[in-house]
Amino acid sequence: MRKKVTVVGAGNVGATCALRIAERELADVALVDVIEGVPQGKALDLLEASPIRKCDIEVTGSNDYGPTAGSDIVVLTAGFPRKPGMSRDDLLWANYEIVKNSVEQVVEGSPQSILMVVTNPLDAMCHVAQRVSGFPKNRVMGMAGVLDTARFRTFVAQELEVSVEDVVTMVMGGHGDSMVPLVRYTNVAGLPLTELMDAEKIQAIVKRTRQGGAEIVKYLKTGSAYYAPSAAVTEMVQAVLLDRKRVLTCSAYLEGEYGIRNLFVGVPVKLGAQGIEKIFEARLTGEERAALEKSAGAVKELVDVLAPKLGSPGAASAKT
Ligand code: LAC
Repeated sequence: MRKKVTVVGAGNVGATCALRIAERELADVALVDVIEGVPQGKALDLLEASPIRKCDIEVTGSNDYGPTAGSDIVVLTAGFPRKPGMSRDDLLWANYEIVKNSVEQVVEGSPQSILMVVTNPLDAMCHVAQRVSGFPKNRVMGMAGVLDTARFRTFVAQELEVSVEDVVTMVMGGHGDSMVPLVRYTNVAGLPLTELMDAEKIQAIVKRTRQGGAEIVKYLKTGSAYYAPSAAVTEMVQAVLLDRKRVLTCSAYLEGEYGIRNLFVGVPVKLGAQGIEKIFEARLTGEERAALEKSAGAVKELVDVLAPKLGSPGAASAKT
C-alpha cells in the first residue's frame, strides 16, 4: 500500500509541496485548505499532470479532513505569510489559531502520523502542534534548518563558483533573524570554508542567510518563499518515508540538549521512519553556544506569550 502525506494549506508552499511529493511518487497526497475550491482545483490539476509526469499517485483536495485519514506524515503549511517589513514573529496569534485548529482535526484520523511544521513563527508553531496533538517528541518537528542551510550553501557555491552539491554546512537555532549559521562546520568537499573565503565575505553570507526569507518577501511583496521551502520539506518527507536516516537540521524538542529545555530549536537530527530518531550534540565554542542561546531565547519569548493558552508542563528555558 502506498504511503499518504497530508498537506494542510493549498497556498504556494502547500501546493508546491504536493507537486514535489507527487512527482517523486513518494506518497498519495491529501491537500486540505479552508478556501472552497482551491484544494479541489489544485489537486485535480496535479492529478491531470500525472500521465505526463508518469506518476501513479492519488491526489485529493478537500475542505474537510475526511480524505486525510491514515496519513503517515502531515505537513502543516496553513497560515498567513509575511508581508514586507514583517518579522516571522508578527504572525504569532493569527497562525496559532490556524495551526491549533488544523492539528486538532488532522490528528483524529491520523493518530500515528508525523507532523512537519512549516507555518511561521516556525519553532513556536511546533510547540503548538506538539501540545495540541500530544504526540511524542520524535513525531513533531519543524522545517527550517534544511531551508536555511540550503540558502547558505547556495550563497557559498555562488561566491566560490563551485557545485552546490559540494557545500556542506549547518544552520542551527530558531528560524528567525538570530539563527546560527555555523561557519566552523562549513566545508566544500572537506575543505574548510575559512581556508577558501575571507572572513568579511563569510560574514556577509551569514548575514544574507539570516535574512534569506525577508529577501524573498521583499521581492514578492504579497507572500514569502515557496520553491526552496517546499524542496526542504520534501527532503524531510523523503527521509522519513524511505527511512533514509538522513542527518538534517530540523526544529526539534530539546530536553536539556545544548543546555536548552522544553523548547523547539533547530539542531542536527537523524531523520528516519520513526521521525526524529536521534539529536546530535555538536561541540560548540563559547561564542557559538552564546549565539545558540540567544536564538533559543527568541523562541522562548514567543512560547512564553503562548503559554497561558497552551499550558506548560515544563517551564521552557534557554539555559540549564
Ligand atoms: C522563509 C519562510 C518560509 O524563510 O520562513 O522563507
